Amino acid sequence: LPPPPPGPLTSNGTKLVNDRSHPWKPLRKGDIRGPCPGLNTLASHGYLPRDGVASPSQIITAVQEGFNMESGLARFVTYGAHLVDGNLVTDLLSIGGKTKKTGKDAPPPAIIGGLNTHRVFEGDSSMTRGDDFFGDNHSFNQTLFDQFVEYSNRFGGGSYNITVAAELRHRRIQESIATNPEFDFTSPRFFTAFAESTFPYAFFVDGRISNRTTAALDMTNATLFFRDSKFPRDFWRPPAPTGAIGIIEIFSAYPIAPGRNVGAVNTYTPDPTSADFGNFCLLYTNFVNNTVKSLYPDPKGVLRRNLILNLRYFYGGIAGGGCEEIFPYGQI
Ligand code: HEM
Ligand code: MG
Repeated sequence: LPPPPPGPLTSNGTKLVNDRSHPWKPLRKGDIRGPCPGLNTLASHGYLPRDGVASPSQIITAVQEGFNMESGLARFVTYGAHLVDGNLVTDLLSIGGKTKKTGKDAPPPAIIGGLNTHRVFEGDSSMTRGDDFFGDNHSFNQTLFDQFVEYSNRFGGGSYNITVAAELRHRRIQESIATNPEFDFTSPRFFTAFAESTFPYAFFVDGRISNRTTAALDMTNATLFFRDSKFPRDFWRPPAPTGAIGIIEIFSAYPIAPGRNVGAVNTYTPDPTSADFGNFCLLYTNFVNNTVKSLYPDPKGVLRRNLILNLRYFYGGIAGGGCEEIFPYGQI
């Protein structure tokens, strides 16, 4: 049975996380990394299994312990990813590409392809990874990182802060509109893109800096996290449970409706059926009714039971947010 998610941290202040029991180690043959610099770093320091294959509970524990991610967000993101990218029978998820290590697959249309799987969770206009259309949606991309540095120099005096975040988010969207005929910026990517733009200053800045809204990430440390999956020396986690601080400010600097290019560059067309910041519960209902349901149209037995349980844990991340719970596979 997939266990219920670990609860919030009981001791939830800052502390040294690049400690003696979590040394960075280089990749061994077969170790998997992917599009998320946060999870990559946790794996390379042993907060997650170093091979890059983990259970949702292990991921929730690791992001709380290593980065002080707020427990509701940790749950919602982890179960969201697991539902579409993970193996719901073995309770294992690859933080990168598809692997036999997650066990025997459920039948198609299930994908079980790990976090690299395009569209169901991973999406376009990432800061340091290319759009899937160009062939690699998960590796560190030096050209894109050079732009990250250029924007940090231009708008942040050499560091990545909320001002840089807003400018670079806008820039990456405009770039994808102009170059990627398959650019898709509908939910859930619409939300994850803005959320992830906050993460470098929210999570990658040392926790002994207490004002997190003015926190700024220098380029030496940015390189360590994004490229090398490595904590800086003497790195302390954020001082309190932390979420996507400033996400609305970033969105509001250059508001855009969710939408997509329709088969050619520069054809961005809003999609009114997609959730946006004015309709957060639609993110949850569309994800469950459309994305999850399309992968698992008619599950049976253990698979169905685990879908029901994982959907409940997923909803648990936003319970209290005023969204009504839905049960596409019934209740147990
Ligand atoms: C991006 C998953 C937690 C930092 C991503 C992406 C995935 C992902 C699939 C790729 C999306 C894309 O750019 O197309 C997860 C899951 C988490 C988690 C399942 C579990 C809670 C974290 C944490 C941090 C983090 C704790 C920071 C400490 C980032 C950043 C990006 C990202 C900065 C954007 C990378 C870029 O745009 O180049 N994450 N993540 N994530 N994640 Fe995570
Ligand atoms: Mg991406």
